[in-house]
Amino acid sequence: MLPILLIAALTQANVKLTAEQDHGRLLQELGITSLRSGVNGMNPKDPNFANIDEAKANPYTNIPDALIFNNGERVKSRRDWQRRRGEIIELLDREIYGRTPKKLPKVKWEVQSAEDGKVGEVAVVIKRLIGHVDDSGDPEIKVDIRATLTTPKDAKGKVPVMLEFGFPNFGGPPRPGGPPRPAGPTWQDLVIAKGWGCAIMDPNSVQADNGGELTQGIIGLVNKGQPRKPEDWGALKAWAWGAGRVLDYFETDPAVNAKQVGIEGISRYGKAAVVTMAYEPRFAIAFVGSSGQGGVKIWRRNSGEQVENVASSGEYHWMAGNYVKYAGPKTPGDMPVDANELVALCAPRPVFVGVGSPNVEGIWIDSRGTFMAASLASPVYRLLGAKGLNTTEMPPEGTPLINGDLAFSQHHGGHTNGPNWPTFLAFAGRYLGK
Ligand code: GCU
Repeated sequence: MLPILLIAALTQANVKLTAEQDHGRLLQELGITSLRSGVNGMNPKDPNFANIDEAKANPYTNIPDALIFNNGERVKSRRDWQRRRGEIIELLDREIYGRTPKKLPKVKWEVQSAEDGKVGEVAVVIKRLIGHVDDSGDPEIKVDIRATLTTPKDAKGKVPVMLEFGFPNFGGPPRPGGPPRPAGPTWQDLVIAKGWGCAIMDPNSVQADNGGELTQGIIGLVNKGQPRKPEDWGALKAWAWGAGRVLDYFETDPAVNAKQVGIEGISRYGKAAVVTMAYEPRFAIAFVGSSGQGGVKIWRRNSGEQVENVASSGEYHWMAGNYVKYAGPKTPGDMPVDANELVALCAPRPVFVGVGSPNVEGIWIDSRGTFMAASLASPVYRLLGAKGLNTTEMPPEGTPLINGDLAFSQHHGGHTNGPNWPTFLAFAGRYLGK
């Protein structure tokens, strides 16, 4: 039985539930009474600390092969791959990330301001962009996508752009608690010094990072303020949709070469970056940093963060409702799809997969599982005439593999893409700005 208060909340035009309430409602809809709890990825003293013994890390040996159809037949040609790709998308949509609605409201871009500025020694133009999402479906729900675009002022033509999921600066005082500016060049310094542009989109302006707001944002707008169905899209898909709309704007901006736009993010935004690359073929390159569980890391591994963590009320909103089934009674080994197949959807376009050092970043990312996901996606790159990692042996920390179209690089630092940027740009230079 649903508690009275919950029934009252659910009968409102625009439903307001906390993440816990919505998570509970979802379990009830799926007929699940309880979920297994996640592991602690941070504190080795916790009895529930994540497994770090590689001998116990692969309890499920059934990692799906991207090149085998659901019916067991082998993918032999590019043509076959197009069909197999459709199968993988269907599984990811239904079970993992949810279905992006077929009909979505239009977005009207406004250049709120365009100012001259400097990045390092380079003169730039900084645009603050607002994408007004048509709210006629539910005028009570406003969605304004916020992004910034910075391009070299004296560029000779359209420039490649790296788009980050992050925190665009819309002026005003620095974010309280925001990170201090690190020593040395920022990624923007490095990108602008190459003559390229950099952009940041605020995912929260598309969809809040919180299960308590799934009836708001673009997900809530499309659902007219009602809670999600188990196959509906989660925040990662919504953020990816937002990135696609920013790319629509870039196609109209004379400063940007929209055929050479890359997507980048770390952690939950690393997950969003790979989902974006997998689903939006117009992105030319991706930099996926420390994306962990639900991103580029074999999901069914017992190492670092677990499916059970992401299925909890603090994170389930990133995923489809159906995803939580794999935290009880089903297991991660029951998932019909895995991260290697997600990476394979990006092929043959270039993807750079990054992680930090387990000694600094912590073990919860599962750097080996991250490498495995990229390595196991490699045969699809090969089939399409591109070059994957072409090794199943994980290189030592600080030894990037960047000669193929799929790259892997484990830096010596912590939970940041910072130390990998120069390595990524060396890789990206083979594709962008040509
Ligand atoms: C949590 C979460 C991770 C995620 C990370 C982040 O730790 O469990 O899956 O990647 O937050 O985004 O910082």
